[in-house]
Amino acid sequence: MPLDTGFSIATGQVVGQPIDRRDGRLKITGRARYAAEFDIDNLAYAVLVQSTIASGEITGFGLSEAQTVPGVLTIMTPDNAPRLPQAVSGQSETSGPLVAKPLLQDKLVYYNGQHIALVVADTLERAQQAAALVQVQYREAEAQIRMQDALGSAYPPQHFRNGARPPDSRRGDPEAALASAPVKIDVTYTTPVEHHNPMEPHATIALWEGDGDDKRLTVYSATQGISNTSNALAKLFGLKPEQVRAICPFVGGGFGCKGNTWPHVALAAMVAEVVGRPVKLVLERRQMFTSNGYRPQTIQRVRLGADSEGRLLALAHDGLTSMSHPALGEFSEPVGLQSEMLYASANNAVTHRLVPLNLPLPTYMRAPGEASGSFALESAMDELAAALKMDPLELRLRNYAETDPHEDKPFSSKALRQCYADGAEAFGWARRALEPGSMRDGSVLIGWGVATATYPVNRSAAGARIVFDSDGTVAVQSGTQDLGTGTYTVVAQLAADALPLHRVRFELGDSNFPKAPVSGGSQSAASVGSAVLAAAESAKRRLFEMALATNRSPLAGTAPDDLELSDGFVRLRSAPHRQISFPALLTRNRLERLVVEGDAQPGDEKKRYSMHSFGAQFAEVRVDPELAQIRVSRFVGAYSAGRILNMKTARSQALGGITMGIGMALMEATHIDPNTGRVVNSNVSEYVMPVNADIPDVTTIFVEEQDRMINPAGIKGLGELPIVGAAAAVANAVWHATGLRIRDLPITPEKILV
Ligand code: MOS
Repeated sequence: MPLDTGFSIATGQVVGQPIDRRDGRLKITGRARYAAEFDIDNLAYAVLVQSTIASGEITGFGLSEAQTVPGVLTIMTPDNAPRLPQAVSGQSETSGPLVAKPLLQDKLVYYNGQHIALVVADTLERAQQAAALVQVQYREAEAQIRMQDALGSAYPPQHFRNGARPPDSRRGDPEAALASAPVKIDVTYTTPVEHHNPMEPHATIALWEGDGDDKRLTVYSATQGISNTSNALAKLFGLKPEQVRAICPFVGGGFGCKGNTWPHVALAAMVAEVVGRPVKLVLERRQMFTSNGYRPQTIQRVRLGADSEGRLLALAHDGLTSMSHPALGEFSEPVGLQSEMLYASANNAVTHRLVPLNLPLPTYMRAPGEASGSFALESAMDELAAALKMDPLELRLRNYAETDPHEDKPFSSKALRQCYADGAEAFGWARRALEPGSMRDGSVLIGWGVATATYPVNRSAAGARIVFDSDGTVAVQSGTQDLGTGTYTVVAQLAADALPLHRVRFELGDSNFPKAPVSGGSQSAASVGSAVLAAAESAKRRLFEMALATNRSPLAGTAPDDLELSDGFVRLRSAPHRQISFPALLTRNRLERLVVEGDAQPGDEKKRYSMHSFGAQFAEVRVDPELAQIRVSRFVGAYSAGRILNMKTARSQALGGITMGIGMALMEATHIDPNTGRVVNSNVSEYVMPVNADIPDVTTIFVEEQDRMINPAGIKGLGELPIVGAAAAVANAVWHATGLRIRDLPITPEKILV
């Protein structure tokens, strides 16, 4: 079956232009094929059974009733599940080749909603019916559900930033500086568990073919990382990497929850081998609240000390974040990292601690660490400004870090001052009254808030392949994925720029393409873009060499440096009529196609420079004091994120990040029953997220920024940045409207009813 894994772009629709996303038409007409939608012959259907206790052990299964349901092919439990050669556990910061646990290898229960059995039948309905009839007996143990009850067991992360640095940092003498500071803030902020809730559910179709050394596993899987998925499964099943193929042409949103290879992916593959048929496993929305991570709960203490002019003398940020049982791996939300580098304070301390609970393993969720950390830091800065009776934007400017105070390095580029200025101008910030509660529209209170955004520039090794066909077509391929962010479009733009031919097609979503990193940490455009540029350079060299070496070439006697590629021809720059088309080059060399590969990896730039994107977030809220209703009425985000490949898809990223930030500020929270450990709002009607009516007129500004240090493509990445600071800007605006400082997200109406 043909895969829609590529889109072509005409030369001229190049970098920077606000062109429509290439995959848009397929998506709105329903023709884009998502993981669960592949038609596979002889498909069987799997349904998960999940634990109903939060802690303990399974003592037995009652399967007789379930087994009588017609069409049931197997019921896989820890009693009969295949023993895996390598039950690899945990996860890494970069989503390395690991599969999250548990994988039915034992009968321990670590949380409510844990996968404990998998029913496979010939239809979905039969599998669902049988799954509902599975009986489970448990020996229940005491569960630790509430973070505030478990603070005594807080521990330092063992693999913070994948082991690249310790979880704590300090410079100067923050305690002494705090003690003697004339103006002090010492406050604690809390953020709840949040779930990503992408529109597309997690889904995997697993298909085994062949035997022995020829054995092959193919998964159609909703993922932010096809390369990681195939590598992880290969490792888990003791196969060679080339024996496993992951396919994912479209993703209906990820936001971090599709970054890891979660247990259901491996379970689908395991059970497909057991039943000897392809198996499809789609998670129900309810199951997605315990099966694929979440943004952990945080308790963050921030202490600021300043002189009477508002210059920071000390900054301390202590972050506690919730975790699962450590047997399931480790995830730590790095809430304090921006507190190390965002403001110039000589005395600084940051700590990170994990609080183990009987809950699933948390994971990355859009700007993991920065989003929740910025709510604390940027609210505290606002509290400091209030204590100083100073404009909060002015306070930030007084503490502007010209160089990275933590790493003691220059920034590769930093246009934050321009972001503040342009954002403030667009918002009309200069008209803001200093006193809270002093701006009104009739009975409605109006508040304006500001916050800073920052996110590190990330990049990983990536590869790309260019296939020139003698029919004149050019395909660029990379084993990356498009979460809906516009990867198809922006990489095609880069490729069309680098290879000025008639049309260039960019293909992704197949792990048989050259390896690319997980689409997380805002790194895909920079990583894949750099690889495409490298491959395009090699390709041009090859074509030029061929053009010079070809018999009776019109370019004979010239040098590669004199040649250029344009309009489908290799041409002499000084005399463009001396040219040869690339299809002619291929045929004259008796080649049906020319395949050129290239790759790119980070160098030592991060050793020499501190590399970050920045932004300034401005929110206006309108609060009806009688109804305790809070509406965000205006939002301005100004960002500096290096080269913007496509102003339209970039703006979409910013709109999405701001929307998620508004949700974080006012609505989103996962409620977990403190007795049973069960998620009680495990659906999208009670897990409240913004809808169109909640999102105001949003203005986005991209401050021009050219940064040649970060990577060959000049890209900083834009997936995470626009959510950072967005919740703080709203919370600060709520304070400015009402005089009420809400330090516990989300800011729901009852919290401002006084
Ligand atoms: Mo993003 S949370 O790194 O997918």
